[in-house]
Amino acid sequence: KFAIAVQGLQPDFAWVARRKNGEEFPVEVRLRKLALPAPDNDKKTGVLAIVRDLSERKAAETEIKQLEFQLLHAQKMESIGRFAGGLAHDFNNILSAILGYSELAIMETPPDHPLAQPLAIIKKSAEKAAELTRQLLAFSHNKQVLEPQAVDLNSLLDGIAKMLARMIPEDIVIETQTTCRGRQVLADPGQLEQVVMNLAVNAADAMPRGGRLLLGTENLDLHPHALRPGDTIAPGPYVQLTVADTGSGIDPATMERIFEPFFTTKAQGKGTGLGLATVYNIIKQHHGTIQVESTPGHGTTFKVLLPATKYPAKKPPKLEEPMIGGNETILVVDDEPSIQHLVIDILTPLGYSILAASSGQEALTRATTMESVDLLITDLVMPGMRGSELAAQLCAQHPNAAALFMSGYRPEDINEQELGDLTPFLQKPLTPSALAKKVREVLDSRQTTDH
Ligand SMILES: Nc1ncnc2c1ncn2[C@@H]1O[C@H](COP(=O)(O)OP(=O)(O)OP(=O)(O)O)[C@@H](O)[C@H]1O
Ligand SMILES: [Mg+2]
Repeated sequence: KFAIAVQGLQPDFAWVARRKNGEEFPVEVRLRKLALPAPDNDKKTGVLAIVRDLSERKAAETEIKQLEFQLLHAQKMESIGRFAGGLAHDFNNILSAILGYSELAIMETPPDHPLAQPLAIIKKSAEKAAELTRQLLAFSHNKQVLEPQAVDLNSLLDGIAKMLARMIPEDIVIETQTTCRGRQVLADPGQLEQVVMNLAVNAADAMPRGGRLLLGTENLDLHPHALRPGDTIAPGPYVQLTVADTGSGIDPATMERIFEPFFTTKAQGKGTGLGLATVYNIIKQHHGTIQVESTPGHGTTFKVLLPATKYPAKKPPKLEEPMIGGNETILVVDDEPSIQHLVIDILTPLGYSILAASSGQEALTRATTMESVDLLITDLVMPGMRGSELAAQLCAQHPNAAALFMSGYRPEDINEQELGDLTPFLQKPLTPSALAKKVREVLDSRQTTDH
């Protein structure tokens, strides 16, 4: 390079330099020819070398690359999320009919009837589809956790370990190390169960010839000085959840994609590739993080950090109640005829008088001829008039009427401004018991505010 520089060319190149302590660091070198004045007026040729330490610039570049990667990842998740949300909405209407009618049919069928078992299978399958739809919906604008409460991860893990012991092959030994003490996390327990189950099932899948599955919890405190720029996590007390296996491990190329929705290395029909994408979303919603370490051939460890909460644990949720009816008049509005029919078929046997309409306009016309309307059950997003607008206009006509909104979208995904009016809200797919219960609830709260 010096020879080139002497000829007048200007080489710039990257080089590695060494510090006094022997540590190597990247540098940039520029060589320039210099004509040096000499006392005898005879010019001498020299070469000026400018060496610049690049360590800091290199570090900044890596950080920018990482941030770009994170952004790209977030954008990809977001667009797939929007697509999934729309799909889930349509599915919820279809599933409402399948789930609702199979439940009604089961109620009408004595257990020894030859159709009792097929009906139960239809209902089970529809429930599975509804669960999958729920996972898909979790992608679209995951702003809010459904039912956050203080959750004790130790007992959650113990419960899952028991369930897993029955589910996975016997040559997989399950160990639990619940060493977390005095800390809970504010979360939707169903969603956390899903996180652990998805991770545990993956772990079991990675150990076809048996092995060890470790489920653990521990307290972990993040100190402010332990955080690096770009970290999306706040300092404070956390609970760390560990799911580790001694399975196949994950090679680096696979590792880059494991959190992508629909990415799977499993045979067709074996995996949807939604497991880890769902885990990622749920953890993000709970302001946590997830990390993976893996040694191909030896195993994989997933570590989930969830912020600890101060709230005390809640009692477990209550059991199913029988359906209670009434004699009030209800107006049902949905542009989907199968939903209209379903609501009528569920509520009529309970004693209510039901009228149905397929649009806001039709509903208002019907309502003018009605003596009284006690409750309006309406879809939120319909062509023409939206459900919230219909409710406002109907209540002007019938001041005693209460409104119950339903939608295949989640309430937090619908227009923000409407949120305040959506309080009695029913998420599709509708099931007879949930609908009957909600209807009674809304009607009863209306009577108490009347007096
Ligand atoms: N513990 C693990 N050990 C080895 N590979 C894993 C592990 N967990 C995940 N993977 C890899 O990540 C991929 C994606 O996992 P993910 O749970 O998202 O989907 P899936 O398990 O393939 O399908 P699904 O969970 O939807 O049934 C898996 O196909 C597998 O290749
Ligand atoms: Mg999986």
